[in-house]
Amino acid sequence: MDLEAFGIKLLKKHGLSETIINHSIGVSHIAYELATKINSKAAEEIVDSKKLYLAGLLHDIGKSREGMHEFNSVDILKEEGLEELSEIIMHGFVYEHFKLKGREDKGLLPKTLEQKILCLADMYCDQNQKKVSIGERFDDIFERCSNDKDFLKVVELAKPRILKLEEEINSLIN
Ligand SMILES: [Fe+2]
Repeated sequence: MDLEAFGIKLLKKHGLSETIINHSIGVSHIAYELATKINSKAAEEIVDSKKLYLAGLLHDIGKSREGMHEFNSVDILKEEGLEELSEIIMHGFVYEHFKLKGREDKGLLPKTLEQKILCLADMYCDQNQKKVSIGERFDDIFERCSNDKDFLKVVELAKPRILKLEEEINSLIN
């Protein structure tokens, strides 16, 4: 079975919606593309592009459960025996979520190159599997979540960090 079929089967097993599956497919392609570009500029293979492909597919698997999906995704991947993937999928705005609650934990920020690529790929892909810019993605989130003032504060705080992340990844590609 190829990686995409394997990932989609797992997403379906956990009851993910078609919208989330489509977004995940988009993220997996973008993560793979970023990884191969970075590797092609480096003297040797510095990131595992296949691992990033599968991590992209499965990063939102935790949305099948109640609570913060980022933590749920880590739990599910561990339960499924995909420990290695669970280590790179912590992403999104978890750091800002806790910072605004007065519990700053730098351990929640993406640190390795693989974590950073996945985080950025997630930002580049909207709900319709469309590749968008960081600005467009944030505009979309602000629009869709306009009623959730607390979440908007989190997103606003995260935006400069994501833009900096983009600069860092771009510097490895261009
Ligand atoms: Fe996502």
